[in-house]
Amino acid sequence: MNIGVIGYGYWGPNLVRNFSETASGTVAAVADLDSKKLAQLNKRYPAVRTSTDFQDVLRDPAIDAVAIATPVSTHFELGMAALKAGKHVWLEKPMTETSLQARKLVDEARRREKVLFVDHTFVYTGAVRKMAEIIRSGDLGRVYYYDSVRVNLGLFQRDVSVISDLAVHDFSILDFLLGEHPTAVSASGTNHFPGTPENLAYITLFYKSGTIAHTNVSWLAPVKVRQILVGGSKKMITYDDLQVSEKVKVYDKGISFTDDPKQIQEMRVGYRTGDMWAPKLDGAEALSIACEHFIECIEKRQRPQTDGELGLRVVELIEAATSSMRGRGETVYLQPALAQVKIA
Ligand SMILES: NC(=O)c1ccc[n+]([C@@H]2O[C@H](COP(=O)([O-])OP(=O)(O)OC[C@H]3O[C@@H](n4cnc5c(N)ncnc54)[C@H](O)[C@@H]3O)[C@@H](O)[C@H]2O)c1
Repeated sequence: MNIGVIGYGYWGPNLVRNFSETASGTVAAVADLDSKKLAQLNKRYPAVRTSTDFQDVLRDPAIDAVAIATPVSTHFELGMAALKAGKHVWLEKPMTETSLQARKLVDEARRREKVLFVDHTFVYTGAVRKMAEIIRSGDLGRVYYYDSVRVNLGLFQRDVSVISDLAVHDFSILDFLLGEHPTAVSASGTNHFPGTPENLAYITLFYKSGTIAHTNVSWLAPVKVRQILVGGSKKMITYDDLQVSEKVKVYDKGISFTDDPKQIQEMRVGYRTGDMWAPKLDGAEALSIACEHFIECIEKRQRPQTDGELGLRVVELIEAATSSMRGRGETVYLQPALAQVKIA
């Protein structure tokens, strides 16, 4: 499987390294507008063909699939050109600037029977996969809430807000964990510097099942925090991505509530505190699992776990949260998801 990579900035080199290490994939060509970056690449990978024109990658009949790691404003144009050139496509997150663009790419890929993969890398981490396993096994019970803090003194970006940069991770993790699309979103946030995108946001997602999710994202915090809590009716999970080991902990804690009239005079809430355990996690690099999965999906003609539909649902949430934020938290209702969320 010959892979072409477009964009060799910050993230592109990670794609080149991980695709080069896959069992049946080879990075055959890389394009970037900046010839200096291509010269750096050639020092490490002398056999890779390079060009400052992405069309050279698309015109090459030996290339089966193209991975695009350029700024989000270029994703639609490059992704559509790659599909039209008959390539399978890997797009970096977020998939596109607008949901209309994402929908067009999903339709084009379907029409041409090409794999459209969106790199929501967190879905391939051992921690998120373990949390999904625990939730799907029923061990957690009903999911009451998801609560996340994703803040640090982050790189202020000119073209995307903190929602597109950081909340996008929670949106994809929630989609994977819950298999349910929210019905409504309410968000507040602000930009502290005139003319720049929002750098701080608090987003609440409401689900038909009763689950409520909240994420606090910011580029203006003195410390880095990457923490998630998931509370269920039977157990609760904490996930601290900055821990070297024991990132995920499962607590056998919760409450039982009775509305039995016989007990109405007594305390109606019972507290349960049991053991805590830290499950063993797959320590493989998430991006390497994602690259193998992309290639396998092409070989076996399967839909990726993070396919174009998931990418589209995430872009819809970015749009809804942004619209709510600009209306100072007014509730934005969402259409039912375009595609049925599937459980892997
Ligand atoms: N999956 C993740 O965890 C993760 C992490 C970081 C970045 N990303 C995503 O990767 C994408 C790129 O981010 P980045 O931080 O690497 O950006 P970057 O600005 O560092 O790099 C982008 C590169 O694309 C090149 N480029 C732009 N337009 C081009 C064109 N038309 N043809 C060829 N090359 C072109 C630029 O010259 C630059 O080298 C973004 O969508 C970002 O959200 C994903």
